[in-house]
Amino acid sequence: MKKRVFFLSTVILSIALLAGMGILLATDQPDEISIKSEAFAKYKKGPVPFTHKKHNVDYKIACTECHHVYKEGVNVYKEGDPVQKCSTCHDPVESKDKVKKLMVAYHRNCQGCHKALEKAGKKTGPTRKCSQCHEKKE
Ligand code: HEC
Ligand code: HEC
Ligand code: HEC
Ligand code: HEC
Repeated sequence: MKKRVFFLSTVILSIALLAGMGILLATDQPDEISIKSEAFAKYKKGPVPFTHKKHNVDYKIACTECHHVYKEGVNVYKEGDPVQKCSTCHDPVESKDKVKKLMVAYHRNCQGCHKALEKAGKKTGPTRKCSQCHEKKE
């Protein structure tokens, strides 16, 4: 009994430590997020609510559709790897060759998939209308 309690507290302590170090675990995969990247100097539009878990579980979209780390042109991201903010690599101001600027990266990811599904006649999310993704600016 005592051993079990000790084991559990070790686990809890380790999780707390990892969280404290800012490492995001796969189990931290949030159900719903509001995308509002701090990298943008100012916002023309409101934040974008995003059903993270629904996309993954209900719509069956793999992590690698949206999360990537490229090594020699190949996406080596695996589920469980720590996740970096899109803005770590995508500059808010300018595109650098294949690494498009931040707004374009988000739009190509979200709308790119939605538009392709629309074209294929499948159920999809918002493709064009700004207000279907962006909330009103406060
Ligand atoms: C349809 C796209 C999409 C899919 C699929 C997806 N994610 Fe994400 N995820 C995002 C976006 C967008 C963010 C926010 C990143 C940002 O704004 O910098 C994010 C953020 C995260 C974060 C950071 C959470 C936070 O609060 O900052 C983790 C961890 C994460 N994702 C893990 C996963 C894992 C693990 C999977 C697969 C099981 C997955 N994601 C599938 C798009 C996706
Ligand atoms: C570790 C750095 C890194 C992170 C983090 C990152 N990207 Fe990228 N992204 C790249 C690189 C490098 C490329 C160019 C890949 C290539 O084509 O060689 C790229 C390409 C893309 C493309 C393809 C652009 C096109 O040409 O159509 C999209 C879309 C994209 N990223 C969206 C995102 C989104 C959304 C996030 C956050 C969920 C994200 N990226 C996080 C490095 C990153
Ligand atoms: C790889 C494909 C793919 C990507 C990438 C993707 N989505 Fe979706 N999205 C879907 C599908 C499929 C549906 C709807 C399926 C259904 O209704 O059965 C959907 C539905 C939605 C909906 C309406 C339903 C809901 O769950 O809220 C919103 C809003 C949405 N997506 C926002 C986003 C945003 C924001 C991003 C980028 C951060 C994004 N999506 C990236 C495939 C994708
Ligand atoms: C499929 C979802 C989706 C649609 C539709 C969409 N956006 Fe976005 N957009 C995003 C996401 C996600 C971000 C990143 C939000 C953030 O970090 O604040 C973004 C960021 C932006 C940004 C940079 C951040 C800011 O607020 O200045 C601008 C500008 C923008 N979008 C304009 C538009 C306009 C104009 C339209 C309509 C023509 C539009 N978007 C439609 C998902 C979408």
